[in-house]
Amino acid sequence: MLILAEAAGFEAFVGRLHPLLLHFPIALLIFAALLETGRWVIGKREHASISAATCLVFGTLLCVLTVWAGWELAEHESETGQLVEWHRWTAIATLALAVLATLALGLRRWKGPQWTGAHVGLLLLSGVMVAVSGHFGAEMVWGPGWVLEPLRAADPSPQTPSDLPSIDADPPVQEISIGWSDVEPIFANHCEKCHGPKRQKAGLQLVPWSVMFSGEMGDWVVSPGDPSTSLLHTLITLPATHDDVMPPTGKADPLSGAQIKLITDWISAGAPGPQGQTPPQPDADAETSGA
Ligand code: HEC
Repeated sequence: MLILAEAAGFEAFVGRLHPLLLHFPIALLIFAALLETGRWVIGKREHASISAATCLVFGTLLCVLTVWAGWELAEHESETGQLVEWHRWTAIATLALAVLATLALGLRRWKGPQWTGAHVGLLLLSGVMVAVSGHFGAEMVWGPGWVLEPLRAADPSPQTPSDLPSIDADPPVQEISIGWSDVEPIFANHCEKCHGPKRQKAGLQLVPWSVMFSGEMGDWVVSPGDPSTSLLHTLITLPATHDDVMPPTGKADPLSGAQIKLITDWISAGAPGPQGQTPPQPDADAETSGA
């Protein structure tokens, strides 16, 4: 038992080395690819560059470690979702390409220049693939579209949920007819990056509304009309120091008291949807089971 626990602890530790390791294959493979491609373009094709070869060999080794660590990280941090899978499989493709490029480099050196094309081509592909995979990884951490966001911010669309602290400027609490539009921006700003269409931590997706109320009713994290039995309500009202508080402390902006009250009132009001519709009713479901 103890040995098992220790092994799991070690794997989790390896997983957390992922952010440290990942810079190496990115820099080394891209540098090697640029160098060899540049030499190819200017006609220096006789011998493989020693610098590029060194970068490729170390880049490939570091790529093995990075993929392993990333795999453990996804396991131990229960990372799931479409972006994670894109990141995972483009990283594995990068590793395969880097290994093949290393083999082609060996063949080029020991068998002759007929392997030059394979070496440079595979190297270029692994450089491109590591950039693609790195991009998906960055989107997982920083959120989809993060890089270009500042450029798009020039477009004044009031619909765009903003991450600015303005959301914490207590929104007016509406006592009457609280709707999805009141709470949707809160979920979008504080929860969506982990529980949205792109990424579902703990397998949970909160937006759009229809997804929150899909699947087995027993698995819903909101019990319409009853905050006290809603897991979502329990987790957002935990103290900030609690391990299970949502959003996790330090990983996203915490909810203000006013925002928690809005969500509580929305659940009490029956958790209505964007058109004021109500979530499916348990009784109706039981009667029409099989429908
Ligand atoms: C930085 C990522 C992140 C953010 C942001 C985030 N969560 Fe989570 N959430 C998680 C993780 C990770 C788990 C799983 C925790 C565990 O298993 O210990 C989780 C679990 C949950 C669960 C329990 C799901 C279940 O079935 O066990 C609920 C409910 C939840 N989150 C609601 C929210 C709400 C509401 C917000 C926004 C106010 C939010 N989360 C923001 C990462 C996040």
